[in-house]
Amino acid sequence: MIQNNAQMHNSRWRLSRLLIALAATALATATLGATAQDGAAIRVELTVRADQPKWTIDRHIYGQFAEHLGHGIYDGVWVGEESTIPNTRGLRNDVVAALKNLKVPVVRWPGGCFADEYHWRAGIGPRDARPVSVNTNWGNVTDRNAFGTHEFMDLVEQLGTEAYISVNVGSGTPQEARDWVEYMTSDSDSSLANLRRKNGRDKPWKVSFLGVGNEPWGCGGNMRPEYYADEYRRYQGFLHTANGNVARYASGASGDDYRWTDVLMREAGTLMEGISLHYYTVPSDTWAHKGAATGFDEAAWAITLKRTQRMEELLQKHGAIMDKYDAAKKVALAVDEWGTWYDAEPGTNPGFLFQQNTLRDAIVAGLNLNIFHAHADRVKMANIAQMVNVLQAMILTDGSKMVLTPTYHVFEMYKVHQDATYLPVEVASPPYVFGDVSMPAVSATASRDTTGKVHLSLVNVDPHRPAQLVVHIPGLSAARVDGRVLTAAAMDAHNSFDQPDVVKPARFTGAKLERNDLTLILPVQSVVVLELR
Ligand code: AHR
Repeated sequence: MIQNNAQMHNSRWRLSRLLIALAATALATATLGATAQDGAAIRVELTVRADQPKWTIDRHIYGQFAEHLGHGIYDGVWVGEESTIPNTRGLRNDVVAALKNLKVPVVRWPGGCFADEYHWRAGIGPRDARPVSVNTNWGNVTDRNAFGTHEFMDLVEQLGTEAYISVNVGSGTPQEARDWVEYMTSDSDSSLANLRRKNGRDKPWKVSFLGVGNEPWGCGGNMRPEYYADEYRRYQGFLHTANGNVARYASGASGDDYRWTDVLMREAGTLMEGISLHYYTVPSDTWAHKGAATGFDEAAWAITLKRTQRMEELLQKHGAIMDKYDAAKKVALAVDEWGTWYDAEPGTNPGFLFQQNTLRDAIVAGLNLNIFHAHADRVKMANIAQMVNVLQAMILTDGSKMVLTPTYHVFEMYKVHQDATYLPVEVASPPYVFGDVSMPAVSATASRDTTGKVHLSLVNVDPHRPAQLVVHIPGLSAARVDGRVLTAAAMDAHNSFDQPDVVKPARFTGAKLERNDLTLILPVQSVVVLELR
């Protein structure tokens, strides 16, 4: 193919960035003090309190969200049994295998805004007899309801994960919700349990979490918190499950709507196992022009990474309100929608929320997971939006093609923290500054798993300066350190169907361990996960 000038310029620019990145990686894999670029590195001191273990990092923090939205379900997960794309009972094998590798602990379904227009009876029985609905929230496309309860629960079982089902409050009834629960979980001889059997499933399924509506303050019914609190009280009373161990989650606040959390905790806090929070990272103040997923400048990089760390303040403040009503922290906070939200890719249906995923998204993922760990005494679940083909996805598909995103790789690298014991980390990091945006350059988290291995995960948001790290780890007894790094030449480096491996983890050999102290150089714009044993 003949390249035009712009393409040639672009490839030259990419080549020079690649050389810089290779130099940074070489720097990272060298021993401290051994390269000419050290002058550019910032110095960061960290203490990992292996001698002061805290709470368990609930694996559900690594949860996913899959809504009937764009190609999130149809084509992305479900292709149907007749498809030429290899599948098991209609679920694509490549996507299931990739997700299994992430150890996905929970999937939230069917929405999102879609949940409050979803009527579960449309999605059971012979597929060719199911009604056709209009997805009014997401592009007004028709949904043939081929993917319903049985297909979702099959996905859950193929993945070896848990189900988080959002019942319809906005346009449904408590009767419809309670019937759905009975249909899924009853082992009795009831008509609904027998209908499930007739539709091909003998044994009841396990449903771990039930969400009562979704965003009732917005697409879920435009309710005031006082009104929703009463609705929540009413609904939860009818969500009987045969096994009795389902957790009921109230729909929570958007961002800094602290009054919502306050009213819900005051009015219904004793009737719930959890309450949610939604916070999206949008790099602009104008919803109509959020910014592009690729081809952005450093200003967009900096503002995105700054805004995403607002999660810290939100968790602190919502958590403090919850403490007022629930000092024992019995009620979980679930960030059941989070991630980046950019302009949809040019040429795609704007209602499908399809966006590319770059190194910037990988950094966003690392920063948020670090924050969740630090609040995991209260935050027991999080569900990134969304699993496949929508917003900050793990996986993108195009027909039979599939690509793993940089965000996928962070979830894969970080899976070692699932259900591990959180070890507090003290970080003294100089800032990364761009214009009037400033934030600590380095963020870190650590945990000890059940076999005694300590994992230290590090993020450097600075695209220019590597960080020379000295890490003290009192309470550590380890003889060796291994690691992996995720970085790339360009801030907007991404994986495409033609070039699926531009951003992928590489071995990181630059860390040196001497007794309880670790030294390393953290490359620019990178995520590193170290294992100490
Ligand atoms: O994730 C996309 C949408 O964002 C969800 O449907 C809704 O809950 C939120 O506003």
